[in-house]
Amino acid sequence: MSLEGQVAIVTGASKGIGKAIALSFAKEKMKVVLAARTKSELEKAAREVNQLGGESLPIPVDVSREENITQLVSQTLENFGKIDVLINNAGMGVFAPVDELRVDDFDRMFSINMRGVFLCTQAVLPYMKNQKSGAIINISSLAGKNFFKGGSGYAATKWALNGFTKCLMLEAREYDIRVSVVCPGSVATEFSPHSGKDPAKILHSQDVADAVLTILRLPSNALMSEVDLRPTNPK
Ligand SMILES: NC(=O)c1ccc[n+]([C@@H]2O[C@H](COP(=O)([O-])OP(=O)(O)OC[C@H]3O[C@@H](n4cnc5c(N)ncnc54)[C@H](OP(=O)(O)O)[C@@H]3O)[C@@H](O)[C@H]2O)c1
Repeated sequence: MSLEGQVAIVTGASKGIGKAIALSFAKEKMKVVLAARTKSELEKAAREVNQLGGESLPIPVDVSREENITQLVSQTLENFGKIDVLINNAGMGVFAPVDELRVDDFDRMFSINMRGVFLCTQAVLPYMKNQKSGAIINISSLAGKNFFKGGSGYAATKWALNGFTKCLMLEAREYDIRVSVVCPGSVATEFSPHSGKDPAKILHSQDVADAVLTILRLPSNALMSEVDLRPTNPK
């Protein structure tokens, strides 16, 4: 299915997985709203989107701040007139045993990885419901399905996100809105550097972007609600 002309908001679009998704959307000639906190990085990514044939709108936001998200949606509608796709990708992780994990890091992870997704989703839903179409894709993690030492805070946010996404999926499909969750394993980004590993064996941001495109390209009657993305043979 052609994605040309569709309007997408991508959070965390200034680097890593979010930027790869934004650039892949640009190649599809989509209109891409890039959201993250650091203006200079966002503007750089927006220039790259334009160079690839997309249309870009960089909007500096902190996804955990409700007033920022209201602005994000209103500016998207003012500039592009509709919202077809929301990619909830912005996220962060701090890894430490429970008794060493700082309370403010625990709170920050929940406010970005979960509260931010809730706020962005709640803000776009009325428009998608009204137009009776749309796609919301949440970038979760295999950490939202597995257990590992030092991951209590981060994994808890992603387990929460997976539960949130499945409930939302059941609600939104009644309005022809498709909701999906992508759960990648470890991906080579600043968040998770893979220095020294064989680049042919590990997951890259583009792999996640390709999974997102696969979900979006399905005909509108079909919903791929969950994707687990792993390296084929990490050894
Ligand atoms: N890398 C991995 O191994 C891996 C594996 C599975 C899942 N994931 C998930 O994939 C997503 C992207 O990860 P990544 O590896 O691409 O991370 P990254 O390279 O660190 O990029 C994170 C992006 O999120 C933005 N961001 C962070 N906090 C934000 C906030 N409060 N408001 C708005 N934007 C914010 C950052 O920009 P600013 O700092 O400028 O705001 C940046 O654009 C995350 O949800 C992560 O949990 C990553």
